[in-house]
Amino acid sequence: MPDASLYSVGQRQRRMPINASYIYYDCMYTRNLVDEGNGRFNLMVLCWGEGHGSAIHDHANSHCIMKMLQGKLCETRYAWPEGSEMKNDAEELKELEKNTLDINEICYINDSLGLHRVENPSAVNPAVSLHLYSPPFSSCSVFNKQTGQKSTCKVTFWSKYGEGRNRQIQDARSPEDN
Ligand SMILES: [Fe+2]
Repeated sequence: MPDASLYSVGQRQRRMPINASYIYYDCMYTRNLVDEGNGRFNLMVLCWGEGHGSAIHDHANSHCIMKMLQGKLCETRYAWPEGSEMKNDAEELKELEKNTLDINEICYINDSLGLHRVENPSAVNPAVSLHLYSPPFSSCSVFNKQTGQKSTCKVTFWSKYGEGRNRQIQDARSPEDN
């Protein structure tokens, strides 16, 4: 369980505890919406079970900031595929760097910095991270590591505002959701 944390956004110093209401585990990592920022951002808590990871994805022209609240995550960054989509070139994505994110560490990415995959490398410990996406987005692109092929992925929430776990959404979710 992460410690209760507070966040503030903009001049109004919005404050809200991040607590157990946002912590859900399932067969893959869960995305739990904390605040929509009047349409300016999405703040969410992501809960990563042992070994859970995302697909390689972009960030739909948004800024993404994430902070570790519990456990560790491994981030692997990749360059954008070089082949033209029209030519349907197949080329493995080039790995740029690997970073380990420890508790309280912060990571930033946007599309100009490349793509990434995030995973919980632990076989015994879950991990929890706080993510801010601005502007918010409802879909992004995911990439095949071997071919660089891109596909569109709708992003969904397992819970909203600390309640209303939506099993229907979760069950329908693509395994390549970010
Ligand atoms: Fe990401």
